[in-house]
Amino acid sequence: MSIFQKPTSAYITGRTRVLGILAHPTDHVKAPTGINRIAVARGKDAVMVPLNVSPSDLGRVVTGLRALRSFDGAIVTVPHKQSAISLCDEVSPRAAAVGAINILRRAHDGRLIGDQLDGVGFVEGLGSQGIEVARRSVYLVGAGGAANAIAFALAEAGIARLTLANRTLNKIETLAAKLRNAYPDVKVAIGSADPRGHSLVVNATTLGMKPSDPLPLDATLLTPDVVVAEVVMEPEITALLAAARSAGCRIHLGHHMLDHQLQLMASFLGL
Ligand SMILES: NC(=O)c1ccc[n+]([C@@H]2O[C@H](COP(=O)([O-])OP(=O)(O)OC[C@H]3O[C@@H](n4cnc5c(N)ncnc54)[C@H](OP(=O)(O)O)[C@@H]3O)[C@@H](O)[C@H]2O)c1
Repeated sequence: MSIFQKPTSAYITGRTRVLGILAHPTDHVKAPTGINRIAVARGKDAVMVPLNVSPSDLGRVVTGLRALRSFDGAIVTVPHKQSAISLCDEVSPRAAAVGAINILRRAHDGRLIGDQLDGVGFVEGLGSQGIEVARRSVYLVGAGGAANAIAFALAEAGIARLTLANRTLNKIETLAAKLRNAYPDVKVAIGSADPRGHSLVVNATTLGMKPSDPLPLDATLLTPDVVVAEVVMEPEITALLAAARSAGCRIHLGHHMLDHQLQLMASFLGL
């Protein structure tokens, strides 16, 4: 049964622990359904609710959450991932490296501890499908929150070489400098739309969500020996994945990243 189906029971009592997802807007968020199902599956008395907070109110809301004794933590998503980092008392080294959090936990004393699980969720999602990343040569397009997190997680997982591409060049130059500093053993290069010469190709841009989007890379250059992975979840088969499949490549869907991340997030939140 999918973790996105409605929980089979959600019985809220005075002891129920409250979790949130800080976003703006919240209409499209998928995580509460998955987290609530995991809570039921793990036998935990907790519920996740959407917390729609505009950027200008984030500081006040997070300050209030410190005082909320029934609150254990929140997923943090667009547009708060970068701004929320400075509101935490402590963040993991990977969140500090990426410059963003996507989850925070409230300790008993009200301290807030942030982490960034996008990248490790992506790498674990690949591993769950038998795609190991160690020693691979990877082409990654994108320079936003998802791309930064994935780049650090791939480097941490022991890839040999990483080629970065993006529409806005200075963003990947900054990312490349941070990666070279943190992972001197990984060969980091700036690339173009040409993905040749890599065994794993990853789209970490938003391109593919809309039918009118251009492809994020030159898919005519894909060869059957390459694995092509997506972060975009809707549609499930993006134009890039369709082109990769036509080229004979193995494809890896965007939802694996979220599925694995939800399990990691649930554990981080104490479920
Ligand atoms: N599967 C999962 O679990 C999961 C988790 C997190 C995110 N995501 C998905 O990952 C994607 C990226 O999210 P994000 O948070 O990293 O977004 P973001 O920070 O806004 O970054 C967007 C990226 O897409 C590029 N881009 C956007 N429009 C473009 C265009 N017209 N032409 C070329 N490049 C364009 C941007 O390039 P510039 O730098 O040039 O602007 C940037 O690299 C989203 O689809 C999100 O839903 C999936």
